[in-house]
Amino acid sequence: MQQNDEFILAPLHGVTSKNFRNALANTFGGIDRVMAPYVEPKQNKTITIKELDELSPQNNSLPIEAQILAKDAALFLAAAQEMKSIGVQRVNLNMGCPYPMVTNKGKGSSLLENPSLVAKLLMQIKKNSPLSLSVKLRLGYKDPNEIFALIPIFNDLAITDITIHPRIGIDLYHGPLYLDHFKRCVDILAVVPSYNGDITSTSMFSAMKEKFPTINRWMIGRGALLNPAFFCELRGEKLDESEFEKKFWKLHDTISENILTLSNGKSFYLHRMKEYWSYWIHSFQENVTFAKKIKKCKTIEEYDILCNYHKETKRPR
Ligand SMILES: Cc1cc2nc3c(=O)[nH]c(=O)nc-3n(C[C@H](O)[C@H](O)[C@H](O)COP(=O)(O)O)c2cc1C
Repeated sequence: MQQNDEFILAPLHGVTSKNFRNALANTFGGIDRVMAPYVEPKQNKTITIKELDELSPQNNSLPIEAQILAKDAALFLAAAQEMKSIGVQRVNLNMGCPYPMVTNKGKGSSLLENPSLVAKLLMQIKKNSPLSLSVKLRLGYKDPNEIFALIPIFNDLAITDITIHPRIGIDLYHGPLYLDHFKRCVDILAVVPSYNGDITSTSMFSAMKEKFPTINRWMIGRGALLNPAFFCELRGEKLDESEFEKKFWKLHDTISENILTLSNGKSFYLHRMKEYWSYWIHSFQENVTFAKKIKKCKTIEEYDILCNYHKETKRPR
């Protein structure tokens, strides 16, 4: 890592909530800033009180950038205005979401197939946005060359903050990374973009740095879920087993307690904790049996007993 690398926690809808973001920042740390998962403004309700509460800088330990999923400039701008009223300073347009329930509505990564719509949308947003604007996108929806029709639009409109996930929408999160296409984007974009995708080890990070020497902003999602110490490790910190364990259980307990303080927290507690464990389990040895047991938990009490046993007996990787 070099001094000027910036590490950004990626948005994962339903996962990187303010509860998770703050707990990670206040335990393992190592993160420079975060992008919040998208909000999707609707005609009858641009943004909910709960969504504003998630985004309020006062409620977030780290600098936060909001994200909006929209194909309509007026809805985007109305939501951005509400975000501004609570002190948010930066907003991102989501042009990367690959899920059919989003792309079937012409939003997220399906926008990438339609350069004229993107040009119109971005022109209106850029002209009127009350917040500093960024975009997060893939190389395309069906074809990794789609981005090359969009780059002149970004350059002309002086979009200065661009994060690229070098996959295509129809490949969701597991298809190939088109790194040569990403390299061409770096060459022809007027600004240096941020890189996002599949960085889950320090060796992968070093390889990316070597391949893309001008990139110094790195957005990381699943790598930090699989290994909560990942941002620290990227900064050259090494935690021994007992330091890792201590921080890990503090992270776990903070997230857990915060969910249970919510009025309806108990109703989604197990679902949410099981989702975190689907990532965290990879940080522990003998993880297969434990993962199965966590999946089978039917009550919060059962879950607590299992975690307490795990705390006493299992060693991190
Ligand atoms: C469960 C899940 C939810 C996601 N939600 C969002 C989202 O709300 N906004 C967004 O821009 N990207 C979202 N993403 C994509 C991630 O931000 C990121 O681009 C992707 O996971 C690739 O980076 P990574 O390999 O470092 O995880 C999501 C990904 C996953 C797996």
